[in-house]
Amino acid sequence: MTTDFDVGASWHVAAPYDFLRTLRRERPVFHSEHLGAYVLTRYEDVRAAYGDPARFSSQGSLTISRSLAAETTRVLGEHGSFLSSFMANVDPPVHTRLRRSVSRAFTPRAVIALERRFRALNEEVLDRVLPDGRADLVAEIAHLPSVRLSAGFIGLPESDEGFVKDHVKNWFQLFLSPQPEERQLELAHSFLEYLAYVDDLVASRRADPRDDFTSLMAGHIGGELSHREVVELISTILLGGNDTVPNQLGNSVLRLLREDGWPVPPGRIQNAVEECMRIDGASLGSFRYATTDIELHGVTIPAGALCLLATDSAAHDETVFPDPERFDIDRPNADAHLTLGYGVHFCVGAALGRLQLRTALDVLGSRLPGLRLAPGRPVEYRRSIVGRGLTALHVEW
Ligand code: HEM
Repeated sequence: MTTDFDVGASWHVAAPYDFLRTLRRERPVFHSEHLGAYVLTRYEDVRAAYGDPARFSSQGSLTISRSLAAETTRVLGEHGSFLSSFMANVDPPVHTRLRRSVSRAFTPRAVIALERRFRALNEEVLDRVLPDGRADLVAEIAHLPSVRLSAGFIGLPESDEGFVKDHVKNWFQLFLSPQPEERQLELAHSFLEYLAYVDDLVASRRADPRDDFTSLMAGHIGGELSHREVVELISTILLGGNDTVPNQLGNSVLRLLREDGWPVPPGRIQNAVEECMRIDGASLGSFRYATTDIELHGVTIPAGALCLLATDSAAHDETVFPDPERFDIDRPNADAHLTLGYGVHFCVGAALGRLQLRTALDVLGSRLPGLRLAPGRPVEYRRSIVGRGLTALHVEW
């Protein structure tokens, strides 16, 4: 087989499933030259690796800086190691300590309390675009409610939302999609500006706490958390809310429209969300480092090697999801996907993400029951190693 992972190729970002199926069958541990990583493609192996942080370490796993030019790395300085103290980038016991503080803020009660606000934010956006009869769902509908919700949760002033949105997008591009050197430098400067902004926000909430997540975390500085840990946490949570949920919503609406599944009956939305996350997950997988030589299916993954746990492939594994390319909002085990991870690093925002997806589909379905794809507008995906999202989704009603 000569085909490799290639986020530069349209077939790969849109529908790599034939390729992944062949890998699962013939080379379940695949060394990708393009990624410089061993790729695990079977569900069982992906889940086992997530569940084994001692052998599949998260330490430094978000550090995609090897793809950065020397000058970019110099400009980034100590931040070139990309979030060295962010919770998804460390192992237990450090991870256990960080996760404890964060989990306290994401209680089911705290999450449910955000539903009303999120519903209202969706209604507001629709009130604005409804008279137009058409929109780019990604840019004009999906992003704003999630960005506003996480901004409010974190305690970001409304006037700074635009700044954060642009900078988070740049940051994502810098670390997760290949860029020419000149663009890398621009993005690196934007990233440093963003970190300085969050640094100030944390310092000001520490001095003068309010009723928000940043104040809650800043309250742990000097005790359970360090200042840098809180800065990295806040900057990343903003990314979690700003990008993954709208991406997942765009993928989900596209799927539902293509499959004549619109609008989803309210009683079936919960499972539909899971099936959308399974079949068109916004996250394609997670990176880990092998801490020791690992023998798997006749391949030795050498100690120190980078591994990609390909949840996108796991979600299409026919041994777990029969007839995996068939979209079925009533699939009984749809929620067994690993799109939100698994094990100690399982997405801490999972309940919040799911709540947003359910609420958005509910509001969109009831306000725009006649939603359809705008004819003649091609569907394009963003080019990224770890995330799947549309650059635009042109719809009419
Ligand atoms: C549909 C939307 C989302 C998807 C697909 C998603 C996906 C993921 C995945 C795959 C992981 C595991 C990473 C790993 O094991 O290396 C993860 C972890 C994480 N997610 Fe999400 N996420 C979503 C929404 C959110 C939201 C809304 C937030 C914040 C409010 C968030 C915050 C986090 C954090 C902080 C972690 C790190 C947890 C840890 O390391 O213990 N995510 N997410």
